[in-house]
Amino acid sequence: MTGTSTLAGRLAAWRTALPSEAFFWDLWISTSGHLWPDDFTARMDASRPLPYHIAKHLPDSMNARVLDVGAGPATVLGRTHPKRNIDLVACDPLAPVYNTLLDRHGVTPPIRTVQAFAEDLSSVFDAESFDIVYCQNALDHSFEPLRGIEEMLIVLRTRGVIVMAHYTDEAEHERYVGLHQWNFNARDGRFIIWNRVQEIDVNEALKDVARVTVTVEGRGHAVTIEKLRDWPNSLHERHRNRLASLLSGLLDAEGVTKAADQELKRINAMANPADGEHRDEALKPAQHSP
Ligand SMILES: C[S@@+](CC[C@H](N)C(=O)[O-])C[C@H]1O[C@@H](n2cnc3c(N)ncnc32)[C@H](O)[C@@H]1O
Repeated sequence: MTGTSTLAGRLAAWRTALPSEAFFWDLWISTSGHLWPDDFTARMDASRPLPYHIAKHLPDSMNARVLDVGAGPATVLGRTHPKRNIDLVACDPLAPVYNTLLDRHGVTPPIRTVQAFAEDLSSVFDAESFDIVYCQNALDHSFEPLRGIEEMLIVLRTRGVIVMAHYTDEAEHERYVGLHQWNFNARDGRFIIWNRVQEIDVNEALKDVARVTVTVEGRGHAVTIEKLRDWPNSLHERHRNRLASLLSGLLDAEGVTKAADQELKRINAMANPADGEHRDEALKPAQHSP
């Protein structure tokens, strides 16, 4: 799979890659971190501080809310701060799977991940309800990364900040295997998302609502996106359109639309024979296996 331009195609590819993601985390949980035991220990430590590169974006208020998007089974972020109360929320589309694995292996992280897709955060969380949104090595695993950023902006308060850290061009590096379908890169100071079928200049796409800065850091890069104003369009309309496109996209992804199309062709071909003798037979449903 090297990228496809339809939502159905991206959903289909995304779905087939999920078992390998779940397999990785099952190993990580059952072996207390597998090759990364220190990482496991750190994620289980409830007293860890919120890292400085994120804490520096906290507002002046006493209470702050931080969202980790695509957090995996246990967020990499700590939630303590010497002067603030941090409400840290971790979300991931695979949360139900991760929580089953955690329970099976008797592991209890300080914060349970809840289910939410980057692409549809505003159907789970209130608009303008977080001060900071964080995302590490996850948005490039999603099926619609630009929509994911838009949704992060919607749930972020105005003047809040998105902080993201990803490896550069991970899909190319991983040869488009599994959930690696998107490359993130910094080009001429602009944040570029691309694969073999499309390219998105994120600075340009968000120029009316946010300020995007990107810095290369070794094999990866850090992106900071500051929300400059309220989301300009109706959320009601956005959710309505989304539901419709997701439902038809899901049917396409499951091959249902293709099957229905073939069935219609079959009926048409039989219902319109030159001599009309097969009309009754055409109106009978096709044979189904139990
Ligand atoms: C490599 S793991 C990174 C987990 C965690 N952020 C970390 O750094 O340890 C990638 C995560 O992205 C999640 N993911 C995949 N598709 C996503 C989507 N559409 N929205 C949000 N997260 C997604 C996966 O379920 C997985 O937990």
